[in-house]
This record gives sequence, structure tokens and C-alpha cells, in this order.
Amino acid sequence: MSNQASFENMAKLDERLRHIAFIMDGNGRWAKNRGMPRTAGHRAGAKTFQKIAKYCADRGLRAMTVYAFSTENWKRPKEEIDAIMDLLEQYLNESEKALKEYSISVRVIGDITALRPSLQQKINALQKRTEGNDMILNIAINYGARMELCHACEQLIGRGVTKVTEEDISNALYTAGCPDPDMIVRTGGDYRISNFLLWQAAYAELYFTDVLWPDLTEQDVEKAIQAFYSRSRRYGGV
Ligand code: IPE
Ligand code: IPE
Ligand code: MG
Repeated sequence: MSNQASFENMAKLDERLRHIAFIMDGNGRWAKNRGMPRTAGHRAGAKTFQKIAKYCADRGLRAMTVYAFSTENWKRPKEEIDAIMDLLEQYLNESEKALKEYSISVRVIGDITALRPSLQQKINALQKRTEGNDMILNIAINYGARMELCHACEQLIGRGVTKVTEEDISNALYTAGCPDPDMIVRTGGDYRISNFLLWQAAYAELYFTDVLWPDLTEQDVEKAIQAFYSRSRRYGGV
């Protein structure tokens, strides 16, 4: 769906919807339903992620964030963690052409120092090579919102700050410079945030769908976008 003409009948994205963040949940269940190992679900999920990122770029979204691996996901079996890291590394190896074609700028949010060195090095290189492209794509890896807030506090303390504004905190987060998410979409049928973007989500619209992440289609994203435009965001006003 890289043809702009196919979006003619769809609601035009405007300043109200600049950033969608996705909690990509349900890979394991998708695989289990098919009698396949969980890692096969992650492989299918990685494909879906690439499809959805292209769609969001085509749609003219300014920023997209995906939750790929949380600070809590280290609790999983080593084989599963290794498979997820392998998929991330494979994506970093192979995505440059598509990122250029769709003008996507990659930013990894999270503590990458805990990742294998080859992954860290590829993240840093790809971030540099895609800097300044149109759509920001935040990939949350070893990300936890509470850890991010602790990290931000340490940054501020390190600067000797004694008075803290909301702006100071926003600017000390991994997402500094990126508009807050207007909508958070969680697939997989659970109704929770799981330590994702707690600060940035203060006024995000929340959208939950039972669709398992590997099954998510462009039409499903479109449904979420329609739902977003049908809501009234009052920000505490009347
Ligand atoms: C989300 O899918 C991907 C990661 C958390 C890495 P899950 O692996 O959590 O899939 P379910 O929730 O077990 O189905
Ligand atoms: C959230 O999914 C994290 C990611 C999608 C990376 P989880 O599957 O880890 O969340 P819980 O355990 O259901 O809260
Ligand atoms: Mg899950």
C-alpha cells in the first residue's frame, strides 16, 4: 500500500494525530494457536511491524513508537530472548533500504547498554544513518517507563537541578523532541499499559483490540484511526 491514491477516501491525518504508539502484544498466543513455538510468533510479529511501519509512514504520521522488548521481558526463557534479539538484529541489518524509501528515522528508546555489543553498534549506526527523515520511528528495546523516569531524574540531578518543570522531565526522557503519543494501540486483548510511556501517555487516547499482533492489518490500523477521530479530547476542559 505505498500508493498515496489509496488513501483518498480515508480521514486525512492532521495535527490532532501526529503520533501512534503500539504495544505489539500477542505473538506467543498467535504461535500457540498454530501449534508453533513462541519464536515463530515473534518472527511473524516482526513482519507485521515492518508492514505497519510502512503503512503509518504512507499515511503521513509524524511519529510511531513500538514496544518491542520491555525491562520485564528479561524474565522470559533465554531461547525466547535470544530469538527476539536475533530478530531485532536482523531488522537492523536489513531495514536501511526501506527506511530510506519511506523516509523513516529510527530512534531506539530504552537502555541499550544491556544489549549485546553487535546490537548496540548497529542501533547507533542506523540511528545516525536515518537521522532527519520524515517519520520518527521509536523502537522501545529494554524499555520500561519507570526505569526511563529514574534515568531522567538522574540526568537532572547530574546537572545540579533543584527545581524541576514538566518540560525538564519531558526533555530528559528517551523520547525528548518527539511529540507525545496521541493514541496508544494495544493488540492481544489485554487492557493494560505494561510500563509503557507512563509520562508521555498522560493524555493519550487508549485503543485496545483483541487482534493478535501478527494478524494486525492496515485496515485494523485504519479502524483505530477512525476511532481516534470520533473521540472528544477535552484535556480537563469542557
Ligand atoms: C509481544 O508478544 C512481544 C513481546 C513481549 C516481546 P508476547 O510474546 O507477549 O505474546 P503473548 O502475549 O504471550 O501472546
Ligand atoms: C508488553 O507485553 C511488552 C511488549 C509488547 C514488548 P507483555 O506481554 O510483556 O506484557 P504483559 O506481561 O502482558 O503485561
Ligand atoms: Mg504478551
